[in-house]
Amino acid sequence: MERLIIRGGTKLEGTIPVSGCKNAVLPIAVAAAILGDGVSVLHNVPNLTDVRTLRAVLEGLGATIKLKDSTLYIEPINHLEYEAPYDLVRKMRASIYVLGPLVAKLGKAKVSFPGGCAIGPRPIDLHIRGLEHLGAEVVVQEGYIYAQAEHLVGTEMYLTGQHGPSVGATANVMMAATLAQGTTVIRGAAREPHISDLARFLSAMGADIDGIGTSVLTIRGVKQLRGTEYTVISDDIEAGTFIVAGAITRGDVYVKGITPQQIPAISEKIVEAGVELDWDDNGVRVTTPREIRGIDVATAPFPGFPTDMQAQIMGMLCLASGTSIISENVHTDRFIHAAELNRMGADIMLDGGKAIINGVPGLSGAPVMASDLRAGAVLVAAGMAASGETVLSRVYHLDRGYEAIEKKLNNVGANITRVKD
Ligand code: EPZ
Repeated sequence: MERLIIRGGTKLEGTIPVSGCKNAVLPIAVAAAILGDGVSVLHNVPNLTDVRTLRAVLEGLGATIKLKDSTLYIEPINHLEYEAPYDLVRKMRASIYVLGPLVAKLGKAKVSFPGGCAIGPRPIDLHIRGLEHLGAEVVVQEGYIYAQAEHLVGTEMYLTGQHGPSVGATANVMMAATLAQGTTVIRGAAREPHISDLARFLSAMGADIDGIGTSVLTIRGVKQLRGTEYTVISDDIEAGTFIVAGAITRGDVYVKGITPQQIPAISEKIVEAGVELDWDDNGVRVTTPREIRGIDVATAPFPGFPTDMQAQIMGMLCLASGTSIISENVHTDRFIHAAELNRMGADIMLDGGKAIINGVPGLSGAPVMASDLRAGAVLVAAGMAASGETVLSRVYHLDRGYEAIEKKLNNVGANITRVKD
């Protein structure tokens, strides 16, 4: 196991480049490996544990994949493997993305039932319901999901659950619908930037999709999808994380490779808290000329404030003058990081799906533990802002979604060392 030792009290100054979007490249790589007839080349792929895990899942299904620098070369599956095994799926929930494409392409799929994780139960009822709407027969047995269909048939469906649209279910059903007979209309579809990027990639493969970026996706089935060359969008959550890191250390950073359209709600809330964002064509300069103000934040599906930025903004609001309230409406258990921030001197109280944060003048370094990748990120940011030394354990969570995070931050003045236990 590895730990990060973060020596605090540093202001971040300089340019931080944003890598490719993890939550876009995962479904896009699945589509390339399973749905396409022909090699696809993906650029701007971040070097992450999750990308390597997905590569193992897809190679297990028979795809041939090469990762060179930040380019993925994907040769689709050339034989009838259709099982995504437990030991890989349990490592990464996004392995569930192979379910819909396998049924669409091979007529059957066997995927281990993904477990829950630190941020909540993570059900997949909407994935299953969407595929059943397309005519698949789905059975859950002995920890596996078995799905099969002679052929899928397009239909109209409403795919929103009790917590709003589902990113994963929208991706799974949209991918399956590209090869279904007839037209599929998905109402209540997720609109996250990575869902739009997946839809654009599928269109580049020859899929026929309308409504990209809206909550109504219309997919007219086609006979075949070809391999294609594509550049994945930059990671909105990584960019938001670096914006918070610049603000919490009261530094002066330029977050390069992000647009305001990708992070509308993050930008709005960061500015409401008193941080200054100066945009240009390639990114945004983050300065904090005055006190950070307490604000209220409610997470919601895109274009609302993303749940994947909830931990990070909580960290920043720990140092605000005044009180903030954060309502977590997407993953209701996603507050484990609050206890770790309190160990660093924050003053956070949890009340059901809400966190009440009373700003404190400063944080002090402490030994803390990452419970998921975004919790890990906020503890790095808090450690940089705190006085003294913070030792962050379970760093593997961070490596799932942040490419060389300590390198990028040390390049702008942080003092972070990675040590092996
Ligand atoms: C994706 O997870 C992301 N992961 C998550 O990011 C992100 O938190 C989440 O979307 C919300 O934006 C990837 O893209 C790989 P959902 P996903 O289906 O697809 C409920 C990170 O930090 N739901 O949009 O699993 C669910 O319980 C990760 O990068 C059902 O009820 O999320 C949740 O409350 C963490 N039934 C809500 O919908 C279902 O069948 C949204 O979940 C599916 C989901």
